[in-house]
Amino acid sequence: MLLETINLCKDYSKGKGKLAVYDASIHIGMSETVGLFGESGSGKSTLGLMIAGLVSPTSGEILYNGRPVRGRYRGEVRRDIQILFQHPETSFNPMLPLIKSMTEPYHLYKIPYTKEILLEMLKGYGLYEEHLYRKPAQLSGGELQRAALARIMIIKPRLIILDEPTSMLDVITQAQMIGMLRKNQELNKTAYLFIAHNRLVCDQFCSRIYHIQSGHINED
Ligand SMILES: Nc1ncnc2c1ncn2[C@@H]1O[C@H](COP(=O)(O)OP(=O)(O)OP(=O)(O)O)[C@@H](O)[C@H]1O
Ligand SMILES: [Mg+2]
Repeated sequence: MLLETINLCKDYSKGKGKLAVYDASIHIGMSETVGLFGESGSGKSTLGLMIAGLVSPTSGEILYNGRPVRGRYRGEVRRDIQILFQHPETSFNPMLPLIKSMTEPYHLYKIPYTKEILLEMLKGYGLYEEHLYRKPAQLSGGELQRAALARIMIIKPRLIILDEPTSMLDVITQAQMIGMLRKNQELNKTAYLFIAHNRLVCDQFCSRIYHIQSGHINED
């Protein structure tokens, strides 16, 4: 198993009793696409953020490749588990032209690249040189979300938490995004936890689906 959570809980209420996530036990296999579906406020992002190592669980455990992971992720785990945020602006520094953010992973992980390599990769996500010299606010929501996805794919993670990546996009852009995700999966064997409040999209894209209601999770 690539990733497992065991009785994962998150209490934002400082012990007042209402948890955002109760005893979530889920598992994600290598190169699997698992859905996490539930209405607004049901705890989807909270669970995704805990798995990504960005929110610390109140109790419970996360196992990656069978080993417990805690605190801020480092080294291999930090590279392997990535999250595509619900709001793409959160992925970028608003002051910097896109090129600065897009070249960051190459530098951070010492991956050799040229401008041609970067442009060729971006083309696969429907982005071109002109986009690179704009600031995040000068791109559309769809372009920015695709840039955020492209930036994650550069480092070839093993698992990507996709937090409602298509909820703000129109139907055509949504279908394009799903196509890009499928293509990447064939190529790199990436596993996905696909978060959505739309059951239909989950059904089309995922091989297994968890349903979360007021923080309680069940496999459908
Ligand atoms: N940092 C936080 N501090 C306090 N409460 C929070 C925090 N983040 C989320 N919550 C609360 O936890 C609950 C679950 O929120 P979460 O963001 O996980 O829901 P969601 O399923 O992702 O919803 P949406 O579909 O609207 O994105 C909500 O009641 C929310 O108000
Ligand atoms: Mg959310």
